[in-house]
Amino acid sequence: MSQDHATSSLGIDQATLLRWPGKERREPRRSDRHYLVLAPLVEQIRTAIDSELPDVAGLRVLDIGCGVKPYLPLLADRAGSYRGLDTRDGPFVDDVGFAEHLPYQDESFDLVLCTQVLEHAEDPPSVVSEISRVLSPGGVALASTHGVFLYHPDPPDSDRDYWRWTHSGLERLFGEHGKWSSIEISPNGNFVSCIGYLLVQFVDEAGDRSGFDVVRRALTTTINAGAEMLDRRYPSRARVPRPGSLSPNYLVICRKA
Ligand SMILES: C[S@@+](CC[C@H](N)C(=O)[O-])C[C@H]1O[C@@H](n2cnc3c(N)ncnc32)[C@H](O)[C@@H]1O
Repeated sequence: MSQDHATSSLGIDQATLLRWPGKERREPRRSDRHYLVLAPLVEQIRTAIDSELPDVAGLRVLDIGCGVKPYLPLLADRAGSYRGLDTRDGPFVDDVGFAEHLPYQDESFDLVLCTQVLEHAEDPPSVVSEISRVLSPGGVALASTHGVFLYHPDPPDSDRDYWRWTHSGLERLFGEHGKWSSIEISPNGNFVSCIGYLLVQFVDEAGDRSGFDVVRRALTTTINAGAEMLDRRYPSRARVPRPGSLSPNYLVICRKA
């Protein structure tokens, strides 16, 4: 393999990319308690990057609430730069700060990722305005957040879990804050996934406490597989965005005007 192939456009070698943290986000296992949300989410992120930014190289990427930048390997060959901001410092955080007040100039990024952060933000309208401000015209924002989920403050000893959304609430949030030429809301799973996702949290927790890890994994895998299969079919008349629908999570895909 030549050096060109061994090193990504970000200058990160393939061995490092293979070991990049956050694999449970990029390649979720059916035995994972978050499988029903993370599996459709990563597929939708991949599809959005390919369809919204085809053939664009050298992307300037900003990852807000980046944690360990779990989705960076998906962009390693497309990004020219990849900046991560988080309220908490860490080995993958370039800038410590709040999404509500981004320390960047207007129009300085082509792609903004903001995955599973909005529910923890004190002021979601300001976050959306800031995402729009730092995006270049035609740039794309990918923001995911929960529809229905357990209370999960981040950090766990804080009260920082404030919001849950519907597809129309997210459409309104983004529509009213920021300058967008398009806004698309994709549910990460529908009714059966949502029920299965909540059930798995209970099973996983109970299994953890009982110490029967094999049973916990077997039950979680079975529920995840069953819910995933049934969710594609039922109830056919109650899928987002129809009345009676339910989703555990959404991906918002916006293009800056
Ligand atoms: C659930 S984690 C998601 C991490 C990563 N984006 C992912 O998808 O795996 C939420 C992250 O958002 C950060 N965060 C929460 N509120 C924030 C805010 N107002 N501005 C920036 N980051 C924030 C947290 O510190 C945490 O790293």
